[in-house]
Amino acid sequence: MLTLRTTFCLLALALAAVAQPIEPEKLNTLIEALTRLGPDAVNANPRLKDALVKVLVATRGTPQFVQLVQQFKVADQNASLIEVAAKHPTDEAGVTALRLVLASGDTAALAAALKGTNVAAATKLVEALGNTGAKQLPALLLPLVTDTQRDVPLRKQAVRALARTQDGAGGLLKLASADKLPADLKFTASAELNAVRWPELKAEAAKLLPLPPGQGDKALPPVAELLAMKGDAKRGAEVFSRETVGCAKCHVVNGQGVDFGPALSEIGSKLGKDALLESILDPSAGISFGFEAWTIETKSGEEIFGLLVSETGEEVSVKTVGGAVTKLKKSDVAKRHPSKLSSMPAGLQQAMTVQEIADLLEYLALLKKK
Ligand code: HEC
Repeated sequence: MLTLRTTFCLLALALAAVAQPIEPEKLNTLIEALTRLGPDAVNANPRLKDALVKVLVATRGTPQFVQLVQQFKVADQNASLIEVAAKHPTDEAGVTALRLVLASGDTAALAAALKGTNVAAATKLVEALGNTGAKQLPALLLPLVTDTQRDVPLRKQAVRALARTQDGAGGLLKLASADKLPADLKFTASAELNAVRWPELKAEAAKLLPLPPGQGDKALPPVAELLAMKGDAKRGAEVFSRETVGCAKCHVVNGQGVDFGPALSEIGSKLGKDALLESILDPSAGISFGFEAWTIETKSGEEIFGLLVSETGEEVSVKTVGGAVTKLKKSDVAKRHPSKLSSMPAGLQQAMTVQEIADLLEYLALLKKK
């Protein structure tokens, strides 16, 4: 129990601090004083409430701020709470911050932050949201999943967050069964939903969004497991140039290989292992800019599938698999249309053992900018 005297001392301290900006050393004493007095006493006294407001200003953006808002049931702090969540998406403070926002019932600021132009912050927020396991996840995140105008990493994070709750996972499966799950998210959704802990949803995922099969049509291990495997980069390099796998037939690494797809000499600086795996298992998920494939039909009935490498008023040049460039007179072209599919074939993992996939990923991940 506090004696009357200590309480008065604490009060005096608390009130003294209100006059000027709080010095850092005084801040902790003041927080302790307010904490000891408790929310009822503080909220009943306007001057103590002022002291609390000053403390909130001084701690804004920190885990301590979240604790104070929670402890003193301070209303209308959503914008600042959201700021903490975006900074600490995997910490207790960030997750608690979002729980407080969701509990306030006012999700307007949250929806605005998710829609905002600061994509990095929005992506972190989505991650924090996933960690709350909140029932509002589907309402907040499903619209992001289907909005193909938005940033892909943000939408992938939304898929991961949704897959963490039963309703969220169910929502994703509903999109998939209505054929409304955008192609660029199918791989992420498949990886996440085939690993959920609800048996019925998992079974549905295996039917609607099966993971691509591995060698001998055997199922690949869950993506998280595959990514955690240790690989041998040297053996990965051999796999890359192996005839039956064929990566080197379309990609140059440090001057070796055929120049058809993008050069991969620095791919480890661009893509993490998860994105590298996705590039192999689902090449059409995110087609690199400038490498969209086209089908061109000529008036004489030929069909050419490849990358448009240049175009003038009279001519188009198409690079076909193997690296050869065909020049076509536009007057000879009957029709041309972009393909939704990558010119990198799907299913290449079937020519590798699971260990070889891990080796290949290790090799690619180490190809970095010098
Ligand atoms: C028939 C040609 C072909 C083969 C074979 C092929 N690729 Fe590709 N690859 C492409 C093309 C074209 C692209 C660019 C279009 C796209 O992103 O889908 C690409 C894209 C990629 C990317 C993404 C590059 C980036 O900058 O984002 C990676 C990684 C990749 N390939 C790795 C591989 C690996 C590993 C193999 C062997 C297992 C392989 N590729 C086999 C043609 C090929």
